[in-house]
Amino acid sequence: FDAVDVIRAKRDRRDLSDAQIDWVVDAYTRGVVADEQMAALAMAILLNGMTHRETARWTSAMIASGERLDFSGLRRSDGRGLPTADKHSTGGVGDKITLPLAPLVAVYGVAVPQLSGRGLGHTGGTLDKLESIPGWRASLTNEEMMAQLGDVGAVICAAGSGLAPADKKLYALRDVTGTVEAIPLIASSIMSKKIAEGTGSLVLDVKVGSGAFMKDAAQARELAETMVALGKDAGVNTVALLTNMATPLGLTAGNAIEVEESVEVLAGGGPEDVVELTVRLAEEMLECAGVHDADPRQALRDGRAMDVWRRMIAAQGGDPDAALPVAKESETVYAPADGVLVELDALKVGVAAWRLGAGRARKEDPVQAAAGVRLHAKPGALVRAGEPLMTLLTDTPERFERAKETLEGAAVIAPAGSRPAQQLVIDRI
Ligand code: URA
Repeated sequence: FDAVDVIRAKRDRRDLSDAQIDWVVDAYTRGVVADEQMAALAMAILLNGMTHRETARWTSAMIASGERLDFSGLRRSDGRGLPTADKHSTGGVGDKITLPLAPLVAVYGVAVPQLSGRGLGHTGGTLDKLESIPGWRASLTNEEMMAQLGDVGAVICAAGSGLAPADKKLYALRDVTGTVEAIPLIASSIMSKKIAEGTGSLVLDVKVGSGAFMKDAAQARELAETMVALGKDAGVNTVALLTNMATPLGLTAGNAIEVEESVEVLAGGGPEDVVELTVRLAEEMLECAGVHDADPRQALRDGRAMDVWRRMIAAQGGDPDAALPVAKESETVYAPADGVLVELDALKVGVAAWRLGAGRARKEDPVQAAAGVRLHAKPGALVRAGEPLMTLLTDTPERFERAKETLEGAAVIAPAGSRPAQQLVIDRI
């Protein structure tokens, strides 16, 4: 094969053959196809799309570039196989759901191998949040992960470099060539990692709205449908929820403050939207894994989920009782008028948290554990002029100015009686 022929085929809107796809993904991973050639092909795919067959083959080729984990050896104490279920969110602001969700699902005897990532840009990363817990470590060997799944039932850790290395290379290239926003490429990127990870069931939380990758529901639905089809083709029980990311989840966007809120949820409290989404995703994961009579809200109230959380954190070196880092500096943003808060823009809050130090500008940058934005009101709340709306947190006060600029227009206050449009779970696919 020749890379230029493959690029020309997609440029001229012809379907790629299975053999062409297998070759180009493998040759790119090995460095035989150059970055500029793959960049041209990615752009042709972005512009001209791929059929379902092509997307499925592309996904298989990315899986074949690395190792595949196998949890079929996991056993319950009675010797029966232990089902596995995982969740993937396409990324949002204040999205700490994985933290309470993984231990909650494990309560019901379903093992949760949650391979997670770090934040990039305005969306937070699960590993960055958990690293604010003193001692906690994200990197586990496959053997440690397997042992913890058997012992505790839940693991949240970094994906090893062995899973879908083709995706790692291609994603970095897409990031700098304007080719991230292609549904076949996003779907194959996410699903190659999840299928290689070896989970039996998968629930996708596809975010829609300003704080999400996909700003409109039609695109998000297409992405969700593509990913569900790829999962099912590969024998993974896959379901997707389309959920609202027009406003942040819960009352915190950052790292340590999101851990604190997750612990509140595990203690039976916490903001209702976080509880609702955690419970709904737990129900979907359990259903996919064959557990039909669970009441996850009860396991949050009675401490069973908290018990698994504590063991999960301790197993990875963390101290579940340690005090979390507190920001050195804070500034408050006040409501400019009386009325109903009808909008609180997720993207603006996410960018502000990022600029305060909760996120990174480059992959290798450190994050501030204590930085972020604490919200005092959510859409639907009545507010009075001069009341605190948000508290900005950082260790580096020179960051306040840009964060406040970002937040201009983030909160929209309308006359009393107005109702914000709000629906957390938009659809199920
Ligand atoms: N997340 C991924 O893992 N891949 C993409 O392409 C987009 C989001």
